[in-house]
Amino acid sequence: MTESDKQNGLVARSLRSVWHPCTQMQHHETVPLVPVARGKGAWLFDTDGKRYLDGISSWWVNLFGHANPRINTAVKEQLDRLEHAMLAGFTHEPVVALSEHLAERTGQMLGHCFYASDGASAVEIALKMSFHAWRNLGRSEKQEFVCLQGSYHGETIGALAVTDVAIFRDAYGPLLQRAHVIASPDARCAQDGESAADVARRAAKEFEVLLQQHADTIAAIIVEPLVQCATGMAMHDPVYLQEIRALCDRYQVHLIADEIAVGCGRTGTFFACEQAAIWPDFLCLSKGISGGYLPLSLVMTRDDIYRAFYDADVTRGFLHSHSYTGNPLACSAALATLAIFEEDDVLASNRDKATRLTAALAPLADHAQVSNFRQRGMIWAFDAVIDDADAAASFSRRFFTAALEQELLLRPIGCTVYLMPPYILADDEIDLLAERTQRVFQQVIE
Ligand SMILES: Cc1ncc(COP(=O)(O)O)c(C=O)c1O
Repeated sequence: MTESDKQNGLVARSLRSVWHPCTQMQHHETVPLVPVARGKGAWLFDTDGKRYLDGISSWWVNLFGHANPRINTAVKEQLDRLEHAMLAGFTHEPVVALSEHLAERTGQMLGHCFYASDGASAVEIALKMSFHAWRNLGRSEKQEFVCLQGSYHGETIGALAVTDVAIFRDAYGPLLQRAHVIASPDARCAQDGESAADVARRAAKEFEVLLQQHADTIAAIIVEPLVQCATGMAMHDPVYLQEIRALCDRYQVHLIADEIAVGCGRTGTFFACEQAAIWPDFLCLSKGISGGYLPLSLVMTRDDIYRAFYDADVTRGFLHSHSYTGNPLACSAALATLAIFEEDDVLASNRDKATRLTAALAPLADHAQVSNFRQRGMIWAFDAVIDDADAAASFSRRFFTAALEQELLLRPIGCTVYLMPPYILADDEIDLLAERTQRVFQQVIE
């Protein structure tokens, strides 16, 4: 059998047996399905040996490359010690060390970690915890949630209820307990003469108006700090977080920071909230925390919220659980990931990489068919200006396919092209990513 036969074989078997995520399966009649055989560093290799630079960190999870030797070693060592044990009634070193390490990074402000597996589960936990904390404090009328226009917090029913991306949410509308949706602080919403900070303050004002009317029944607001990723990398000024933190304090509403996509150094600081010098009441982490190796998510919270559950009465406890909560293999991958942050001074070296990539992308920023070129930390995005509706509708798929031809894995969101690469790109890989992204854009836009 030729390599090509094998490839077709795997793709054909996959299309028969695997229902792929976030995919209209019929599109695979024209859009390629890539059979991945292995990964090394920033590259994925298909079964024919063709390589693809993982420009979006495999859905924003991979921080230090595929098959990273240091993370591999940590996971292999843990595998020989303890693969898994339930976390109710039992505990283990990796989950304790990880919780301690993360609490330390918040200066003990968020000193209690509750674990799950995927990002959406962490969001569910934060929503439930907020509601339950208020109930335990005698405020059971606080049952509503607030989210932002364009917000994305995951696909489970609770997380979808605080998500405002129509293509994911609308089909399930009848199942969802609708949240209050308020203005996004997206800097692209600037009116004449407005700065990004002005937009942020204007958006925060809308939150205040809502609180003036409904604070008694609102439990929490959930936000993606600094970058609303899934709606198309909408970026906002950190002052927004300061404003809503102050409003949450004034009106007694919890602040949930969903740092599932933006945490772990992605925006330039370890936690995005650090750039506003605030701490939320709940902070959700997932994706990069395990280096992109294994499903792991967690919710960090404050001592006063933890205390609201601490009681002789079992029903005042947080009885939520998942079978793989705090999985030792995933925690060991996370500990190895955090060790790399410290040993390699990753945040500083990312600043250098970001400067180089931004400079290399400069021609795109000036391109006549590009608007809103933007960057924060290790996230770059720009919007393709396309007048024709059909061309706009198919832009993402055409770009993805053309990028594969140029050895790139890039997957625009609508007409927004974005780069979210792993943190281990060498200079020549940065240059290649920039140069080929421009080549693909030019090809697809013509
Ligand atoms: C901000 C944010 N929250 C939650 C999620 C959901 O995470 P998961 O896909 O692991 O359930 C995502 C996924 O992209 C996300 O970007």
